[in-house]
Amino acid sequence: SQSSVALTPPMGWNSWNLFEEDVSDKLIREIADALVSSGMSRAGYQYIVIDDFWVGGRNASNELFPDPIRFPHGIKALADYVHSKGLKLGIYSDAAALTCGGVTGSYNFEERDATTFANWGIDYLKYDYCNAPGDMVTAFTRYKKMGDALRSTGRLIVYSICEWGQRQPWLWARAAGGHLWRTTWDMRDTWLSDRYDNGHNGIMNTIEKQKGLEKYAGPGGWNDPDLLVTGLSGKGKSSSLNGRFTGCSLTEYRSQFAVWCMLASPLMVNLDVRRMDTAVKAILLNKELIAIDQDVLGSQASVVIDANGWLVFKKELSNDRYAICVLNRQNVSAYFSFNLESALKMHGRWNAQEIFTNRRLRGVKTFTGELTAHDCVIYVLSAMNSLTK
Ligand code: GLA
Repeated sequence: SQSSVALTPPMGWNSWNLFEEDVSDKLIREIADALVSSGMSRAGYQYIVIDDFWVGGRNASNELFPDPIRFPHGIKALADYVHSKGLKLGIYSDAAALTCGGVTGSYNFEERDATTFANWGIDYLKYDYCNAPGDMVTAFTRYKKMGDALRSTGRLIVYSICEWGQRQPWLWARAAGGHLWRTTWDMRDTWLSDRYDNGHNGIMNTIEKQKGLEKYAGPGGWNDPDLLVTGLSGKGKSSSLNGRFTGCSLTEYRSQFAVWCMLASPLMVNLDVRRMDTAVKAILLNKELIAIDQDVLGSQASVVIDANGWLVFKKELSNDRYAICVLNRQNVSAYFSFNLESALKMHGRWNAQEIFTNRRLRGVKTFTGELTAHDCVIYVLSAMNSLTK
């Protein structure tokens, strides 16, 4: 059933931030090849999502067809290719007559389109909300219409709800059949923008907006703070907003990835996986961080400290473990010191593994360290049992 997908946050690649309308059969096949040869697919990056601009229109029998120039072999052949690589294919539509990019959407053709997607072998649908009425009831109704249509196809299709967190989708997206729902506006390739609104929010602006949403996340339903800008370096067509945002430092990209893992977020990369920098690749393939994101408990970190330029996140993990992330949001290097008992209400003695250095600490009660601007440190804690005390 639809409840057996997205038991952990979906991972994969999405075309939007880097390529915008430049999607094609050739590009998607090359991305599929690169996901395999780079080791990304083995690490869990499974879904390739073709975002906006793939649609050509509707034919005489009301069936959607792809843009014949961009996708000359049709979507079914492309899905077969992607599946032959052990990957899954995602596609995009909108709950109105037109998508955000102005091509044909699925409103009033939900069942028709869900059937078409299932026949093509689609495994994931990102369903957008441009050109649709603003109220919550209409949004719920339109999303549920497509959710029901996807379910009646009998194919397992991950359903990604994209209305930008404007109508509190965490309250109703699961009831509409959704497996993930955007909580925020589109992510841009910058650390902190001077305003949070449509088109202008960076990594920190987005992190701020996730506070308090942790109770809505869990197996089968995830808060989605949008795509990873990691490695885009200001080159993304959408994420740079036509050159307005020039990119982030490697430290900042690593912090986005680490915090997304703490938040049990979907991990959808956007960079050109055909030519990845070794340093960026090391971030995206960090096994310990991915394991934190994909932990079977499916618990999203909450912010337990937000003071004096520090953010501390705490995420419960399986087997009585916790992940703690300390993020320096200041623009300068600084020292931190947290007592587990008084600051984090974690009693007893703990063993810890520090992720990036792989340092092992025994019987820690206090964490101290220095972090450069926008850097973070992550510890995985397990309680010391009576034998090891
Ligand atoms: C919206 C979504 C983006 C992307 C574009 C495509 O802005 O939030 O993620 O899908 O539409 O036009």
